[in-house]
Amino acid sequence: MILSKELRKKYIEFFKEKGHQEIPSASLVPENDPTVLFTTAGMHPLVPYLLGELHPEGKRLVNVQKCVRTGDIDDVGDSTHNTFFEMLGNWSLGDYFKKDSIHWSFEFLTNQKWLGINPEKIKVTVFKGDDDAPKDEESIQIWQECFSKLGASSEVFDKEKKNNKAARIFPLPKEDNWWGPAGQTGPCGPDTEIFIDLGKSVNFANCPNGDDCKPGCHCGRYIEIWNNVFMQYNKTSTGKYIPLVQKNVDTGMGMERTLAILNDFDNIYETDLLAPIIAKIKTLLCCHGEDEVQNNSVATHNESDDGIVTLRSAPLTMTVQDVKSTKIISDHIRTSVFMIADSVLPSNLDRGYILRRLLRRAIRHGNLLKLSNGFLSPVVETVIDIYKEFYPELEKNKDKILDEIRKEEEKFEKALERGLKEFDRYVQTVILDGKITLEEKEMKLHQAPKEMSSEAVFKLITTFGFPIELIIEEAKARGLIVNLDMVDSMIQKHQELSRTASAGKFKGGLADCSEETTRLHTTAHLLLESLRRVLGEHVFQKGSNITAERLRFDFSHPNKLTDVQRQKVEDLVNEQIKRNLPVQMEEMSLEEAKENGAMGVFESKYGEKVKVYTIGNKDTGIFSKEICGGPHIKNTSELGKFKIKKEESSSSGIRRIKAILG
Ligand code: ALA
Repeated sequence: MILSKELRKKYIEFFKEKGHQEIPSASLVPENDPTVLFTTAGMHPLVPYLLGELHPEGKRLVNVQKCVRTGDIDDVGDSTHNTFFEMLGNWSLGDYFKKDSIHWSFEFLTNQKWLGINPEKIKVTVFKGDDDAPKDEESIQIWQECFSKLGASSEVFDKEKKNNKAARIFPLPKEDNWWGPAGQTGPCGPDTEIFIDLGKSVNFANCPNGDDCKPGCHCGRYIEIWNNVFMQYNKTSTGKYIPLVQKNVDTGMGMERTLAILNDFDNIYETDLLAPIIAKIKTLLCCHGEDEVQNNSVATHNESDDGIVTLRSAPLTMTVQDVKSTKIISDHIRTSVFMIADSVLPSNLDRGYILRRLLRRAIRHGNLLKLSNGFLSPVVETVIDIYKEFYPELEKNKDKILDEIRKEEEKFEKALERGLKEFDRYVQTVILDGKITLEEKEMKLHQAPKEMSSEAVFKLITTFGFPIELIIEEAKARGLIVNLDMVDSMIQKHQELSRTASAGKFKGGLADCSEETTRLHTTAHLLLESLRRVLGEHVFQKGSNITAERLRFDFSHPNKLTDVQRQKVEDLVNEQIKRNLPVQMEEMSLEEAKENGAMGVFESKYGEKVKVYTIGNKDTGIFSKEICGGPHIKNTSELGKFKIKKEESSSSGIRRIKAILG
């Protein structure tokens, strides 16, 4: 078996030989980006350098980056999707470009000294061109050189042709072969994605595309393992694609998928990164927690092809759903362990809420498997054992991780039981009208799914702490559907959950670190201080959400703003913009920051050292001082004209302003 540590080592070694410097994995919590909750790719922490800032380690970098993407959470449990994964990445910051990047990827994959994958199994996609940017002919040509050199076919797929059997290179549109800020601004460009073709086999007999199946099809035949992005454009706020002065390469290879391919496994859960977690859960299932201490060796159980697991003499039959549950638990717990090691704690806000959702979903799947309460601790220990050598932060925070997960388990287990009962009661009384026969019930459940009332959904969220995807799952099992828009608007009224409830926050992808968001971020500081000066010191920030287009800002205040107040606030912000105030950052301890009178928004989220941004200085007079992660612009003169577009109620005692910069 090829182990994860060998793959990490080979990757780093290969790119070091090509002149790259290794940089450490950054935290899962992005340091300088208010618009995403987690690091979703190795390029995240590198955004300033992709935009031209000099990196202290030079222009060629390589690393293994821990990443979290929850956008695919519904696919977890299949063969290739995870919420946590390691990304093997290499970068050129204005140095080499397409030719070296593609040649090196190909060499690393196919050369016997490195991964030795048969080139016949590799298929690639490239950008097919549109009104914004031309077809990536250069990448096509480079790939053709690579494949021809090893005697493999290098035909380009052409839909006009009758027979594309030998096609190796597939031009696809932006949805598939473009990496960058979707619908927003910033560095972006075409990419070329590398797939392994598992070949036609019975597993894919149901492929919806039949003989036309090609990379990009989701039937499972093609596994994407590596993405090479050629950042050569900057998308402006007017939607234009302007060539970048500095052309960059940003690549990312999926660790678990590549390991599965190298070992001929048909899913990532068989790799050494996940198999021991699955094995641990199965051990717990067999023993129901007894004998755990004497017998926690994973070697004592065997699994046959039909999914029957035998532990010593006790046979264990698992249904397809059971197998899926074990996968979901192992995925979610692995992600949770890494999140807590990076100082995320379960809560009802932002990152903490995502962590809570993962833990609670894992607990529910444990409950479906009839695992006894408190089953997560041994699973957590297994995760730490697998990773502690490469990620020492796990061992260092072991007690905290175990403690937090145990607390969450205790909190949710009881609520889960009561919530499930409530769910069934709801189905019985509202959907099935109480008194019907079993046959009628069966029939009703198999009719077109009924929509759950948003009140019922809301109660499950607020009273029983059910995460939304858990409700969707449970609803589905009971023949019901959930109208997310309705629930979302109900949740929006309850500020506590609003930010994380909106689906966009869970998606992976490139952060929008554009100038627009940075400008709006500084504007939020001016707005808070202006509100306090106009309305009074009872005003505190209660949340904010920034896109490239607008700022949404929630604050404590009991009444609707009068027209005069609204105008005064707008004028005060615009006055500061006109005064060309400098924006400065200092690092200090939380205590010092408080002594200095800095406003702290979500104080408990910060560690020992905090960043304090001050707008104005001794000469101009200080207008605002806030604890904040940044980033910010350097001078208020960069902001343009501030305009409040809307002022409305957010929830009881909380007002919401939507504003733009003109
Ligand atoms: N940033 C690119 C990706 O995540 C490499 O696919």
